[in-house]
Amino acid sequence: MANGAREARATAPGKVILCGEHAVVYGQPAIALPVEAVVATASVVAIEDGRIVLDMPDIGERDSSPADADHPFARLARATLAALGVTGSTGLRITLTSTIPVASGMGSGAALGAALVKAVALHHRRLLRPPEVSALVYQSERYYHGTPSGIDNTVVSFAQPIWYQRMSPGRPALIEPITALGHWTLLLGDTGVRSPTRSTVGALRERWTADPARHDTIFMAIGEIVRAARRAMEGGDEVTMGALLNQNHALLGELGVSSPELDRLAAAATDAGAGGAKLSGGGGGGIMLALVTSQNAGAVETALKAAGAVRVIETRLHQSGQGGVLV
Ligand code: PMV
Repeated sequence: MANGAREARATAPGKVILCGEHAVVYGQPAIALPVEAVVATASVVAIEDGRIVLDMPDIGERDSSPADADHPFARLARATLAALGVTGSTGLRITLTSTIPVASGMGSGAALGAALVKAVALHHRRLLRPPEVSALVYQSERYYHGTPSGIDNTVVSFAQPIWYQRMSPGRPALIEPITALGHWTLLLGDTGVRSPTRSTVGALRERWTADPARHDTIFMAIGEIVRAARRAMEGGDEVTMGALLNQNHALLGELGVSSPELDRLAAAATDAGAGGAKLSGGGGGGIMLALVTSQNAGAVETALKAAGAVRVIETRLHQSGQGGVLV
């Protein structure tokens, strides 16, 4: 048999949205960064009985349930086989593990999907390019998130900092790798409050429907912040970036997607010397990010924990040929 008991394994990083979340759903640009300090891993082995069996030991789901065939990840595996042109595949046992906090704005579902797609392709001795991986993962993101912008599946599939903007219906999104100048350090503070993105995106959609003019004005202001943030990133201007992060957080508060826990962590970070801080991702809970220096990172981390952060992840933006990753 071609594949025998060979194990194919692939990983995908977590991610943070530096700025522009929520507004990105309504056509504004956003910037997202991969976070390689946390990772999703998929391994694939052939099994004889033709089924796709999912094993998710640390994600609270177990294999062999009758629902397996309908599970979005099983569907994603079948879609991947179809995209590869593989017919008559043996069954697959797919094991998914992750160190990415779930439902906290770090892209855990998208990263699991990207790892799965890459591992299924590898199992068939094929490599898929990032746009192909991303397009497949988008389908399972829709199952979990309803109307995702596509930014999560893009950044974890490309595994590099990206500028992302949805275009008018029917046109592909604008995706550009970004290069940061200088060494940026971010602290990610986890509120410990699990808040599904689908809920905050759905509730905001209802508020937007009730008052589109007010919300569109805020979305446009966020779009301007994101454009300025790109210039600051490419110019190595940390002072400006910090101020922009604070402004973006205030506007997210006006959109109603912050929370007392997120506001407390953001205030604690800036009081302790962070250049700026904001919630990141869907909001309502999950994580906030703070821009720090090597001099004040320790003090900010201590302040975040005192203000209730259940976990603090330090990430650094390193340069690479393609713009850098956070590790
Ligand atoms: O998956 P999260 O929680 O990082 O949120 C994604 C960002 C949103 O803009 C809130 C939603 C989306 O689909 O872009």
